[in-house]
Amino acid sequence: MARRVVVTGSASGIGGAVASTLQQQGDTVIGVDRATADVCADLATESGRREAVAEVWRQCDGVLDALVACAGMADPDPATVAVNYFGVVELATALRPALAAAQAPRVGVVASISGTQPFDADVVSSCLAGQEHDARRHAASAVTAGNGHRLYPSSKVALTRWVRRTCVAPGWADAGIALNAVAPGVVLTPMTEPLLRDETMRAAAENAVPMPLHGMASPSAISRPLCWLVSSETTHITGQVLYVDGGAEVTLRGECAG
Ligand code: NAI
Repeated sequence: MARRVVVTGSASGIGGAVASTLQQQGDTVIGVDRATADVCADLATESGRREAVAEVWRQCDGVLDALVACAGMADPDPATVAVNYFGVVELATALRPALAAAQAPRVGVVASISGTQPFDADVVSSCLAGQEHDARRHAASAVTAGNGHRLYPSSKVALTRWVRRTCVAPGWADAGIALNAVAPGVVLTPMTEPLLRDETMRAAAENAVPMPLHGMASPSAISRPLCWLVSSETTHITGQVLYVDGGAEVTLRGECAG
């Protein structure tokens, strides 16, 4: 029987590539995005997430083989924290019972190499405490203080920590649900391409995220390992952050970080 897989951010970039690969494999994909998807919802808001969960639940009939959470944004705006953290965590948490009902349930989320960069500790701790209002308030303060660029790394640091704390919590590993992340370097998608057309910005990105192995990635370079991580082939991997970054993390952090 075809696996039922939810892919958020399915209308573009990495999520679009994941949805295509899974469909080619014969999986039934339920795409979630703001528009052009099976389930159209705004994952930046609590009500949008509730609507998304209800509609996904209806479409998968209460049994979900995998969730691949790709929806995200990178603007220096509190909404980035709302989508990148709460839009992933709340969906995964609400859909956990449907995942637990499947044979080989898997969750894959998209972290980032930016999770190795400086972040706002108040935003991260509010996220991990599940306090979205506080996270947004600290994020707004960071913007006012000229530190809006820290919101994206903060959202990904919080997400990575959530993966590691949740994967072995009751109801996850003991229910057979594997929960992992991929952490890309720079990927050529509508999120980055407009920025990278500017030569100065491109040089800054190459400097901040050095990718000696094959350079900047295509969406399929990320979607292939992500699809493998959520496949039933992987039985004992959980809580891991797989850097798919052309060597950026190793270049930046050196041999002792692993
Ligand atoms: P993209 O912009 O091509 O796709 C993101 C998708 O998320 C879009 O379809 C968008 O509509 C959807 N989305 C954004 N906000 C939403 C909301 N409020 N509600 C519902 N859907 C929403 O971007 P890309 O590059 O494919 O990004 C996918 C993931 O990969 C994101 O989580 C991003 O942070 C992460 N990532 C991307 C990198 C890159 O260099 N492009 C590097 C590292 C991580």
